[in-house]
Amino acid sequence: MDSIERAEATVSDRLTGPCRIDVDRLRGDFPILSSTVYGKPLVYLDNAATTQKPAVVIETLRNYYEQVNSNIHRGVHHLSQVATDEYEKSRRTVQRFLNARKVSEIVFVRGTTEGVNLIAQTFGRSRLAEGDEVVISAMEHHSNIVPWQMVCEQMGARLKVIPMNDRGELLIEKYAGLLGPRTKLVSFVHVSNALGTVNPAREMIQLAHERGIPVVLDGAQSLPHLKVDVQELDVDFFVFSGHKAFGPTGIGAVYGKLKHLEAMPPYQGGGDMISSVSFEKTTYNEVPHKFEAGTPNIAGAIGLGASLEYLAGLDLDVVAGYEEGLVEYAHEALLEVPGLRLIGTAEKKAGVVSFVLESVHPHDIGTILDREGVAIRTGHHCAQPVMDFYGVPATARASFAFYNKREEIDILVQGLGKAIEVFR
Ligand code: ALA
Repeated sequence: MDSIERAEATVSDRLTGPCRIDVDRLRGDFPILSSTVYGKPLVYLDNAATTQKPAVVIETLRNYYEQVNSNIHRGVHHLSQVATDEYEKSRRTVQRFLNARKVSEIVFVRGTTEGVNLIAQTFGRSRLAEGDEVVISAMEHHSNIVPWQMVCEQMGARLKVIPMNDRGELLIEKYAGLLGPRTKLVSFVHVSNALGTVNPAREMIQLAHERGIPVVLDGAQSLPHLKVDVQELDVDFFVFSGHKAFGPTGIGAVYGKLKHLEAMPPYQGGGDMISSVSFEKTTYNEVPHKFEAGTPNIAGAIGLGASLEYLAGLDLDVVAGYEEGLVEYAHEALLEVPGLRLIGTAEKKAGVVSFVLESVHPHDIGTILDREGVAIRTGHHCAQPVMDFYGVPATARASFAFYNKREEIDILVQGLGKAIEVFR
């Protein structure tokens, strides 16, 4: 496709394509997107690292601190009650967004990393014994590797890894072969942050459940791009971060089936997670409060509620289709760049395009693009085993949200041309 055809496709996709979405209107909801960098319009293609925030989220945070700020679950005074109501309302928003059966199945945490650590150190630790196995995949983020390595080391258990092919797709037959009598838990990523692969979560969960094995799904990169229904997935635990879903940093949630959460020991000890404390014995609060020790990120949780309500106002199937179109367009455009190799070409991808460029280090690509106003991430993306698999130290990664446009991908490609001029 040449650049004119691409430009025509841009217009046709925006106005008449099968995935109708008014991107220009939506961009207006995000104040930062109209800013400039080095005098050039910001082209923000680092959404897998963190997404931008709509005005409604910023306003919610501001309003909280200006009019509501107070501690929750503690005070009889007016502000404390309003803050508690808002915080618990956000929990119900998360419940509805994920289609969880019960609001008590939602635990607020700092983000995906803390969520996986919580599950590993409570559910994982209480299930694992010497010689048991935890199955993860070859494309995990460090946050879904290291917590399991830590608990395996503590309990004398072993980590088993589902292999993938060169396209960055998990080998499902091999996965089924890994599930044995010693497998106590499976944990894998729904959408890979380094490759963009969408894993067949429903099928993989079913395979584990047929053998009575519970499954944890890392939803950090799936929730902002795909419709997630935890009941339909029948997943045991689903974890995500607010800041990757247009919400604040420092907040996220764990969904866990109630039967698991009730059986699990607490994670951290402290205020609010207890029912009564004496020096002889402490009894614990009911779920989900048993897992929320100390003053939580109250403003963050309320801001997360606002971001999920914003997302729920969009047609998420349309959003997913639109973003799929962006990934396809980026693949085609990037493959015209001489010496460019795509890293991750799975049939089903969401939101992420990783690549390397012959004779140009990814960090140099990132620096040149930055001067053009284009923000991408370069490095190992906290997925060093993925880099090892492809034999590269790092990649350049462009990652999209529904507010990105094909024109921005054209600017990315032009920037790569400049990088080639400078470095080759
Ligand atoms: N996990 C985030 C990323 O992929 C930070 O960039």
